[in-house]
Amino acid sequence: MNNEIERRRTFAIISHPDAGKTTLTEKFLLFGGQIQVAGAVKNNKIRKTATSDWMDIEKQRGISVSTSVMEFDYEGYKVNILDTPGHQDFAEDTFRTLTAVDSVIIVVDGAKGVEAQTRKLMEVCRMRKTPVIIFINKMDREGRDPFDLLDELEHELEIKARPLSWPINQGAKFKGVYNIYENKLDLFTPDKQRVTEKVEVDINSEELNKHIGEFDALKLREDLELVDGVYSEFNVDDYRNADVAPVFFGSALNNFGVQELLNCFVKIAPSPRPIEAEEREVRPEEPKFTGFIFKITANIDPNHRSCIAFCKVCSGKFVRNQPYLNVRTNKTVRFSSPTQFMAQRKSTIDEAYPGDIVGLPDNGIFKIGDTLTDGEQLHFRGLPSFSPEMFKYIENDDPMRSKQLNKGVEQLMDEGVAQLFTNTFNGRKIIGTVGQLQFEVIQYRLENEYNAKCRWEPVHLYKACWVESDNDEELDNFKKRKYQYMAVDKAGRDVFLADSGYVLQMAQADFKHIKFHFTSEF
Ligand code: G4P
Repeated sequence: MNNEIERRRTFAIISHPDAGKTTLTEKFLLFGGQIQVAGAVKNNKIRKTATSDWMDIEKQRGISVSTSVMEFDYEGYKVNILDTPGHQDFAEDTFRTLTAVDSVIIVVDGAKGVEAQTRKLMEVCRMRKTPVIIFINKMDREGRDPFDLLDELEHELEIKARPLSWPINQGAKFKGVYNIYENKLDLFTPDKQRVTEKVEVDINSEELNKHIGEFDALKLREDLELVDGVYSEFNVDDYRNADVAPVFFGSALNNFGVQELLNCFVKIAPSPRPIEAEEREVRPEEPKFTGFIFKITANIDPNHRSCIAFCKVCSGKFVRNQPYLNVRTNKTVRFSSPTQFMAQRKSTIDEAYPGDIVGLPDNGIFKIGDTLTDGEQLHFRGLPSFSPEMFKYIENDDPMRSKQLNKGVEQLMDEGVAQLFTNTFNGRKIIGTVGQLQFEVIQYRLENEYNAKCRWEPVHLYKACWVESDNDEELDNFKKRKYQYMAVDKAGRDVFLADSGYVLQMAQADFKHIKFHFTSEF
């Protein structure tokens, strides 16, 4: 059992759209022997135009469902890559996936540096103290000086950087990367499709000059000296404590620097770690099974309500057909066909270990954040919801079908598609999302899966935030003063709907004893 836990590496690759996440994932699968030729997972991408429409996503859904988790064996390690949607309107999905990983690889575009989405995702990693490795991609394009890039990373992402590989030139003259971690140079022939033979070269040898030219060899030796002078020695514990981010350079498209990254990653990345539940800390090596649901996919086939709930195994061994308790509903369930995911395929499994992700068929029995156990009353902390940025009133457009509408809305919210707030003043329902696309998704799915029609009406709001206070009188006072702008979330908690940044600031200034929270986990 301990060996099974030790060899697991469960992580997510995250990036600002277009930095190269999909390409890198694909190259990992190539090295892992899961696919033979690049290009296979390419389609798993929602088109990134601003007006990407839901039908596109619908078409791609079959693919994205099976590639939500990608598993492969590599050098004795079991690697689980959790896919995260690149489209920023699905950022919330990404945040939730980050609660199920033990580490993260961030891909940064070498020409663009740190971008908005990278910054936001890094914030979540910092909050959770998730160890991070950074891959600076697209070194085959003219980009910035590597030292400048490292400065920017440290400054913008608020984490210490430590390069573990170093680029030999860039742009058209890019020749590969020197592996600082293993102290060797592997030269690959650039190839977009396959992994090519590599040549190992000693850094101080004449042979290096032959391979990369005298000038570049000299520059490389100088750069490496400078790296050692500027950055303190790499220490695995600092990385695992999320104090230092190892940095790799390369070109995912050309297969440069990818193996260096993967080899180092499997060695230093943490295996599943203990997780804090409300009641106690849960250690992966405990004999009894525990796990939580962090993602529920959309219906694949609208005729049979057949979602898949993704369960991260936190401790013990998950066994097929064994009865497990869903703590929230207090019901025991058996799963006769739990699945695991192998690149494009999906297969039934008999058992799974901590770190693994199991796909459980779900016909409405799960909610995001549910805990499964062997019988113990245990609650893994709820997954955070972030305060949404877009709001619309949702209205029933077919009076004969209000029951279907309510049911549909409730289930979609359980899946975590968006958040529902009920205005306590007029009882109207408001849907809050992080992106415009969610409104399309909800409307489409309500029609197709629940046979219900909805209509959106504008509501002018700036932000929704959860409010609480130790001072009941002040809270009551606040609620009375702001009665038109008060709502409750699905769990019945008080939410303040601020219609402008100014109003929110004033409220914060006037009511000193009230806490305004911008994530639901507090
Ligand atoms: P994402 O998942 O982070 O959104 O990025 P993705 O891997 O899809 O890469 C975005 C674009 O960047 C793709 O080009 C991809 O080919 C390109 N790319 C990825 N890695 C490298 C690299 O190392 N060097 C260079 N020069 N380009 C790279 P595209 O034109 O959007 O797609 P495609 O037509 O090439 O498939």
